[in-house]
Amino acid sequence: MKKIGLLAIYLCLSILQAFSQAIQWTEVHPGVWKGVAGKPENFDLLKASGAKPNATALDKVGSASFPLQQADIKFELQDGKTFLSFPLELEEQLYGFGLNFQTVHQRAKVLELHVDHYGGKDNGRTHAPVPFYMSSKGYGVFINSARYIKVWAGTSLRKDSPIFPAEPVDRTAGKNWQSRNTSDAIEILVPAEGVEFYVFAGPKPLQVMQRYNLFNGGGYLPPRWGLGFTQRVKTKFTDAEVKEEVQAFQDKGYPLDFVGLEPGWQSWAYPGSFTWDKGRYPNPQAFVKEMLDKGIRLNLWINPYVSPKASFYKEIRPLTGSHTVWRGAVPDFNLPEARKIFFNQLKQDQIDIGVSGYKIDEVDGYDYHLWPDIAKFPSGVSAEQMRQTYGLMVQRYTSDLFKERNQRTFGLVRASNGGGTSFPYVIYNDYYNHEDFITALINSGFSGVLWTPEVRASKTGEEWLRRFQSNVFSPMAMINAWSSGTKPWTYPDVAEKVKEFSLLRMKMMPYWYTTFAKYHFEGIPPFRAMNLEEGFQQEVKKEVAAANINLEENPYAEATSKEIKDQYMAGDYLLVAPMFTGQISRKVVLPKGRWYDFYTGDFVGDGKVITVTPGLDKIPVFVKDGGIIPMMPAKLHAPKLNEKVDLEIRFYGEKPASFMLYDDDGETFNYEKGAFSWREIKVEKLKNGIFKGSISAPEKGKPNTIGKVKITVMTKK
Ligand code: GAL
Repeated sequence: MKKIGLLAIYLCLSILQAFSQAIQWTEVHPGVWKGVAGKPENFDLLKASGAKPNATALDKVGSASFPLQQADIKFELQDGKTFLSFPLELEEQLYGFGLNFQTVHQRAKVLELHVDHYGGKDNGRTHAPVPFYMSSKGYGVFINSARYIKVWAGTSLRKDSPIFPAEPVDRTAGKNWQSRNTSDAIEILVPAEGVEFYVFAGPKPLQVMQRYNLFNGGGYLPPRWGLGFTQRVKTKFTDAEVKEEVQAFQDKGYPLDFVGLEPGWQSWAYPGSFTWDKGRYPNPQAFVKEMLDKGIRLNLWINPYVSPKASFYKEIRPLTGSHTVWRGAVPDFNLPEARKIFFNQLKQDQIDIGVSGYKIDEVDGYDYHLWPDIAKFPSGVSAEQMRQTYGLMVQRYTSDLFKERNQRTFGLVRASNGGGTSFPYVIYNDYYNHEDFITALINSGFSGVLWTPEVRASKTGEEWLRRFQSNVFSPMAMINAWSSGTKPWTYPDVAEKVKEFSLLRMKMMPYWYTTFAKYHFEGIPPFRAMNLEEGFQQEVKKEVAAANINLEENPYAEATSKEIKDQYMAGDYLLVAPMFTGQISRKVVLPKGRWYDFYTGDFVGDGKVITVTPGLDKIPVFVKDGGIIPMMPAKLHAPKLNEKVDLEIRFYGEKPASFMLYDDDGETFNYEKGAFSWREIKVEKLKNGIFKGSISAPEKGKPNTIGKVKITVMTKK
């Protein structure tokens, strides 16, 4: 009897355990499933960021069936940690896992996703180690955990795997011995007793990203001025020096929308006092106003560590962590009281007098500066979770300050994470490799974040111009001269060309603005990998075949030899292929479909690899057939609130086309209440073969910033 009783208890426990190791699935939006494994923690990325899905827009992406076999996704609780395993096919490629700098393909990587300053290696330690990946099979996975997550992105092979080879190959005698496994799984370790994660269907790769971005609230719609040009001045500049610099931009005819003040605006920095230095800025209010009157906004550098010199130090000290950063206190932003004290200081001292945004520095790392993992915070959130989310929280609560004023902002941040898509911040860092900056720009589109390949200084005019050209085709066109003191015209041999490109940035503002509106309303990343472009993959496959690479024998060949990490899509129509110092010519992979030169409108190719030799004057840019690029006059500042501008609509190619141009007042959140419109630009081919363009009439009662419209047909027969 006793034996039977024990057996029954044992069986019950096993069933219970088996049950507890099952994943609970719910479809939370069409094409988006939540999986719950074990007992997820109370604090996670979505809680820290407060991200809210855009349900209406997600509905519009449409329904889709679950992209995998649910039974192939496995979970086990071991050692107090959660192991997840996702299936991986032989030819499948993986993208994402945060802001990586060196490769676009992530298959065969081992990563520990950890917020940190990028240290030159794609090992998971980066400014936005977003635990999200997209598969070339057309689905995505997001792990909603604020822990340091380990990922074996297709390196491990279990002994019971169906693809486990019957016989291993002997290294000395056999052929094709490989040091690395051909894996059939992505294995993930979350150091917690459970986790919530999400699966996003495609089926198209771009739809995966749309769903992921919309699930996180969609991208932020910057004010128009945020898409203009920004100059960050030397760290100890005074108000007089800033005014002089602003005047120089004006006199020399270089566009400028906002100026970044670096640490010296504060009376104490590293850690901060969060108040103006009265020596350098004796009358901040008058200074900010004078700048605004000239059409120049100010963006202030901060890091969130509070100096004992700060007026609110005593008050906030009990609400800070056990450890300091540069002897400054680390506010626990999970506590409403800490938030109130800290963010009120920013509000009253800066935002209320007209400051337009922030650059949030040092929220990423290094380990040597920041709190250790054994630090304690009064809210009870662990040091590890704080490290993974500190950047998110400062973005969130500074954005709120502007939102309350019905005023859009656009700034910079050095750390973000999953959940951060809808924040008005662009990531930057201190690393300075132009090629890697472009790869990061591509990867930003797989992580729901924005990245700027900022320009600081250069050894030669050529390098300056090449970096500048790329920067103009990025989310934030900026010189960060905090240390170098450089200006756009610092290299006289290229000063005129630099001017031309900064003016081109301004001319393209209507195109950029609509591109960002699509990020906001439809979740389409504004700057993105070629892999998200239809018709691209097969060109790469052709190249692989031509090179005689056997993917069966060497599944990593694609990852190492054939990824495209130096060209990208900017908006729906532009393919940008930056040139790097010393390069005279380069290859460009044109996806299937006809492509045209951006500058001349000439046909350049259809589904092939071309070699271009553009000279120093140009960054190669190509336009898809039927491309419509709305442009405005080359103004020195972005249009003001509701200001009307004339449009030159450039049309490329041979296909009749339509383009939805987004319009609103350009500065407020009134669009959330319906004060916006999409105007249809149409280009039709008449019987005589001539193209004719038109724009739909403005909607009654909606903002209308569009003046006269002129259509330029770029492609001449
Ligand atoms: C760095 C930052 C630079 C600049 C500098 C000022 O941490 O990355 O862009 O702001 O601080 O001290």
